Amino acid sequence: MRISVIGCGYLGAVHAACMAKLGHEVVGIDVDERKISAFSTGSSPFFEPGLDELLREVQATGRLSFTSDMSKAAGSSVHFVCVGTPQRKGENGADMRYVDAAMDSLLPHVGPGDIVVGKSTVPVGTAARLADRLAEHEPNAHLVWNPEFLREGHAVADTLSPDRLVYGVSDGSEDHFAVAVLDEVYAEPLANGSPRLVTDHPTAELVKAAANSFLATKISFINAMAEVCEAAGADVTRLADAIGIDDRIGRKFLNAGIGFGGGCLPKDIRAFMARAGELGADQALTFLREVDSINMRRRTRVVELTRELCGGSLLGHRITVLGAAFKPESDDVRDSPALSIAAQLQLQGAVVTVTDPKALENAAKRFPELQYERDLETAMAGADTLLLLTEWQEYRDLDPFEVGSGVAGLRILDGRNVLDAAKWRAAGWHYRGLGRP
Ligand code: UDX
Repeated sequence: MRISVIGCGYLGAVHAACMAKLGHEVVGIDVDERKISAFSTGSSPFFEPGLDELLREVQATGRLSFTSDMSKAAGSSVHFVCVGTPQRKGENGADMRYVDAAMDSLLPHVGPGDIVVGKSTVPVGTAARLADRLAEHEPNAHLVWNPEFLREGHAVADTLSPDRLVYGVSDGSEDHFAVAVLDEVYAEPLANGSPRLVTDHPTAELVKAAANSFLATKISFINAMAEVCEAAGADVTRLADAIGIDDRIGRKFLNAGIGFGGGCLPKDIRAFMARAGELGADQALTFLREVDSINMRRRTRVVELTRELCGGSLLGHRITVLGAAFKPESDDVRDSPALSIAAQLQLQGAVVTVTDPKALENAAKRFPELQYERDLETAMAGADTLLLLTEWQEYRDLDPFEVGSGVAGLRILDGRNVLDAAKWRAAGWHYRGLGRP
């Protein structure tokens, strides 16, 4: 099948490479020439585990190409729209500029019988609006909403074996022509057991908003419990283990820590609240405001705890922050809680060095005022306090006895509750976790 993928960011590039892996002939299209030339040489401009290898593998078959020329979408029977929907500056709603621009330039190349498939996370109602525009241009083309649930760091595996496929079609019917076409696109994952649900347009759009809201709520729930645990002298990690055994609750996404960040959860819950407000249903989502504020409160709490750990003042303390990315196995620093905490510590007088295996280049663009050091040992040399803020495996594996010789104050704040507190204490460290005694 011939497929075009419009937008080659984290979502689109991975989608394009995976569709080629599934055997389709794919063209990835983006307005950013730098991205296109990087992908064309088989190397991704961002870090996603397994993506470079996959790009090289499928490019060698000749089934995947990249271009900035939208006319190359002509002749594809399926066009995936994978552009970003960032938060609007100074507002909570989603910025739909890139979706609209992508549609503007794609429409002249859409032919009869083609399927335009939206994958971007959008305010509910977008699919219906875009379907009208498509119908004005080409009455025999179809618009499907097919939300994406991939996690950064696992994007390739999540795309090749999605845990569910949702197709939102105009009439919500399984008999829709577009359903058969998408079944052909996703033949392999379907054969391997990925469940598939057909819905109408607004339901498909809402599935994504609801899923992200639920995940964000779960994280903020456990972070709220962490606040209570701290006040009561209880341990939130044991609490999560105990409640998580109940499979109605589940242990996943119950890791208390510095809160969620990244390019999805924070902006998606805000955009969802804004859209509900426009629809007159704002009351239904007021709890998400609380989810957001619990999450933001984590960052302030980490700064407070670090100050306590440093004896009441941050002034002149040499602090090394382990981790800049919003999560491990990613170089993405969008809304990264680690960097926002590092910046606050520096503002309050600490001398901060940030290290990360992959994200320093992106971090330096967003927070040029911070000091960065790639080499872990050099970054820790001369520090009096460590903050583990992104749980990369190499930080989880640190040996407190070895690290101790370089860190004068022997103070560590474990922002992700991933270290063995007893072991660090036995090695003489002042260990603080979050929501733990
Ligand atoms: C998320 C959704 O998981 C994915 O389905 C959707 O398509 C996009 O948004 P992603 O942003 O890649 O994916 O990361 P995710 O693994 O969900 O983590 C989000 C944030 O929550 C990270 O900052 C992570 O550190 C934090 N988190 C996650 C916690 O603080 N505690 C947890 O228990 C889980």
